[in-house]
Amino acid sequence: MNQIVSIEIAAGLRIHLRAMQLEDLPQIVAIEAQSHLEPWTQHAFRAEMETSLVAQPFVALRQDEIVGYIVPWFVADELQIANITVKESFRQLGVGRLLLAHALELAQQRHCRVAYLEVRDSNAAARALYASMGFVVEGVRPKYYGRAQEDAILMKKDLLEA
Ligand SMILES: CC(C)(COP(=O)(O)OP(=O)(O)OC[C@H]1O[C@@H](n2cnc3c(N)ncnc32)[C@H](O)[C@@H]1OP(=O)(O)O)[C@@H](O)C(=O)NCCC(=O)NCCS
Repeated sequence: MNQIVSIEIAAGLRIHLRAMQLEDLPQIVAIEAQSHLEPWTQHAFRAEMETSLVAQPFVALRQDEIVGYIVPWFVADELQIANITVKESFRQLGVGRLLLAHALELAQQRHCRVAYLEVRDSNAAARALYASMGFVVEGVRPKYYGRAQEDAILMKKDLLEA
């Protein structure tokens, strides 16, 4: 995803989407550290951009400020959401929905059959976002998140449905 998408998600709030770039990493790592119990490192994001054969990470910007990002993996005919994060001060404004909707659109263009993601059992905000976009619970991975010994909920969305 190299092109820039520009959408006004609320009155006066125009968000741009573009491919993640190396110079984004300081902002991304700061947002990541504030947002996750087990945050990805700069090295991990770098690997997604430089060496992964399946990742197509992109960011959401308000002017020059990164307000969110998503790391979709396209593996054969499946989409896997490896990371989706919105900067705390920009949450509940529609940025997460925009990021996920765009990843799903890319998956449709690639004729993907299904989308998967994992979410912490306790992450009510993320689970509500996914459910509102048609993801359903597919299973549970017990104690998947090591530090908190928390279950992961596996969610799935069929992309071939009308
Ligand atoms: C999960 C996350 C990405 C959502 O991003 P967001 O930009 O705040 O979400 P949106 O504003 O697009 O919300 C879309 C829908 O999600 C749900 N939602 C979002 N935040 C919610 C909250 N705090 N409580 C309940 N529902 C919530 C609602 O259904 C909302 O739709 P509505 O506005 O029509 O009610 C964001 O909270 C986040 O970055 N959290 C920390 C990182 C994280 O947990 N990532 C997911 C890991 S699996």
